[in-house]
Amino acid sequence: MNKEINKYLAELNKIKIKDANELEKFRIKYISKKGIIPLLFSQLKNIPNNEKKEVGLKINSIKEKVKSIINNHKEKFVKNISNDNFEDLTKPADFIKLGSKHPISIVKNKIIDIFLKIGFDISEGPEIEDDWHNFTALNLPEHHPARDMQDTFYISKNPDWLLRTHTSSVQIRHMENNEPPIRTISPGRVYRNEDISARSHCFFHQIEGLYIDKNVSFVDLKQTLLHFTKELFGKSKIRLRPSYFPFTEPSAELDIYWGLETEADYRITKGTGWLEILGCGMVDPNVLKNCKIDTEKFSGFAFGLGIERITMLLYQIEDIRTLYENDLRFLNQFSRSV
Ligand code: PHE
Repeated sequence: MNKEINKYLAELNKIKIKDANELEKFRIKYISKKGIIPLLFSQLKNIPNNEKKEVGLKINSIKEKVKSIINNHKEKFVKNISNDNFEDLTKPADFIKLGSKHPISIVKNKIIDIFLKIGFDISEGPEIEDDWHNFTALNLPEHHPARDMQDTFYISKNPDWLLRTHTSSVQIRHMENNEPPIRTISPGRVYRNEDISARSHCFFHQIEGLYIDKNVSFVDLKQTLLHFTKELFGKSKIRLRPSYFPFTEPSAELDIYWGLETEADYRITKGTGWLEILGCGMVDPNVLKNCKIDTEKFSGFAFGLGIERITMLLYQIEDIRTLYENDLRFLNQFSRSV
């Protein structure tokens, strides 16, 4: 083995490397996984114990030599490259590929902007929630049948931890920590134990809104939502259909009149011209009481919408899964949107 090592040392002393290509070949020959140096080290175990130390030191010295050869040449070649680049200062700069915003972020920001302009602030909360903030405080006590409306991913029982099924949990936290008047929107990711298909996913994004003050009535809710639909969709015909949510009373579903001008309009509105956009209602007094808000003095409204649904509508995306696949051919189409 000594002979072999001496051969390599002699070779290294005479080595000549002309360019970056040769340097790479040299690097691979000596220090890649299957290179000479790992090979020599692996042969150490076959030689008698009393020689091991001396041979080991020699292999190490080869290794050091190889490293210093690589480092010295690297500097030289890199310098050459950068000198070439600086020769012609009038050369156009290299093209820098800019990223683009994700369509969900684009739509989320649009919605946030609309509400910021009319005096709402933004509140955020944890995605891992306790039972109180996600259900009980929202007028959904244990064993309440409406809990089944949102299939839940539970993390633990006692203490109860779960993945929030809506950002209404953030509204509870906000009411617990702030005095009315409250005007806040809560964007964020939510989770539901649902099958994944073109139309549904086990997680999605929501924006929920909450307004609590003296004398807030259903008229304020309707007017705020009308303003929102005009700003976001440019549509001004809406209707509120009676619905049910445990945390609002009365509750409603907001539909907008989308129109029936194109074939696509027929498809997305199922031939009716109307589209369901969000759920809303007047905050149930039980919810206010749970957050220690005086129901004699204050009332309020709340609403909640899924950002994916709106994004798919605005950009005519057929399959929700394309929003999460991160296929650049899809995402690049949004590089001009802000
Ligand atoms: N939290 C409801 C949901 O996720 C939406 C909603 C919010 C409905 C506020 C009414 C009022 O489905």
